[in-house]
Amino acid sequence: MSGCMREDKAVSVLVTGSSGQLGRDVCRELERRKIPYVGRNSDTMDITDRDIVLKQIQTYCPDVIIHCAAYTAVDRAEEEPERAFAVNEVGTRHIAEASKKIDAKLLYISTDYVFPGTGTKPYETTDAPEPQNVYGRSKLAGERAVQEILEQYFIVRISWVFGEHGRNFVKTMLRLAETKSGVQVVDDQVGSPTYTVDLAPLLCDMVQTERYGVYHAANEGECSWAEFAEAIFQEAGKSVAVERIATGEYKAAGAVRPLNSRLSKQSLTDAGFSRLPVWRDALARYLSGAMDENLRN
Ligand SMILES: NC(=O)c1ccc[n+]([C@@H]2O[C@H](COP(=O)([O-])OP(=O)(O)OC[C@H]3O[C@@H](n4cnc5c(N)ncnc54)[C@H](OP(=O)(O)O)[C@@H]3O)[C@@H](O)[C@H]2O)c1
Repeated sequence: MSGCMREDKAVSVLVTGSSGQLGRDVCRELERRKIPYVGRNSDTMDITDRDIVLKQIQTYCPDVIIHCAAYTAVDRAEEEPERAFAVNEVGTRHIAEASKKIDAKLLYISTDYVFPGTGTKPYETTDAPEPQNVYGRSKLAGERAVQEILEQYFIVRISWVFGEHGRNFVKTMLRLAETKSGVQVVDDQVGSPTYTVDLAPLLCDMVQTERYGVYHAANEGECSWAEFAEAIFQEAGKSVAVERIATGEYKAAGAVRPLNSRLSKQSLTDAGFSRLPVWRDALARYLSGAMDENLRN
């Protein structure tokens, strides 16, 4: 029996992290599909507060929770692991508990950083996780919380996210192009960019099914960060030279980054879900549609 507090239920989906890069496009997609939803951010529902989470979720009583909220400051997480775990593990535990109470489907967004990043083979969903940094460990702990509490769930690991809202690599490169004629970018970290506008419809499709499981979802194809930067400058018509460097040459403190972020999307195909378009096409669409103002956010 569902533990909902009200019967006149108008909300179908609750989106956490609705002010974030991905959450905003998930909300936009729900709006486009005319699916009633409510979005929550850290001001309106701090997921580290169990009472607030249980109360709000039992009040809204959604059929589905798309859990995009996370502590995403990968480098800062090394300095404040307690905070990263409080949001990504404990906060996710609260969301999973609340989903269980009201019998809502839960979709948890996770990351390529749960993997060790060795080798060159794309990671299958069944490969053993072994995160190399605090952020990755905290997101994996979130996955484990979901799996402990719920029998059925969607866990969707994504990588190298870009979209109109929030900070991302594409915006950083375009900002650098304003003042620089050359940039150094690492060429030995390889993965796939994920365009939020392409991912959001897949997430909305998924939660309308009972095809639960662990999935990897990123745009098709792969590139290094240097190749991604070159494509960004080309598509945007900027003449900026990219000097390809190795991770060891990049003088930045912070979290260890996996060299291999390739994700196999076989589980999507096996479950009958459509895979996302190739990343280069996604980048072109993003840049042609992006307003200067949005790129400066
Ligand atoms: N960005 C990437 O490259 C990347 C790669 C792989 C996986 N992911 C995963 O993708 C998901 C979405 O990432 P994103 O790039 O959209 O993140 P983002 O832009 O940093 O947004 C994070 C969202 O989480 C919310 N949030 C943070 N702490 C919270 C708390 N204590 N209680 C409630 N809400 C809280 C934020 O709300 P406020 O605005 O109120 O702070 C914001 O809405 C996350 O699960 C992330 O781990 C991201």
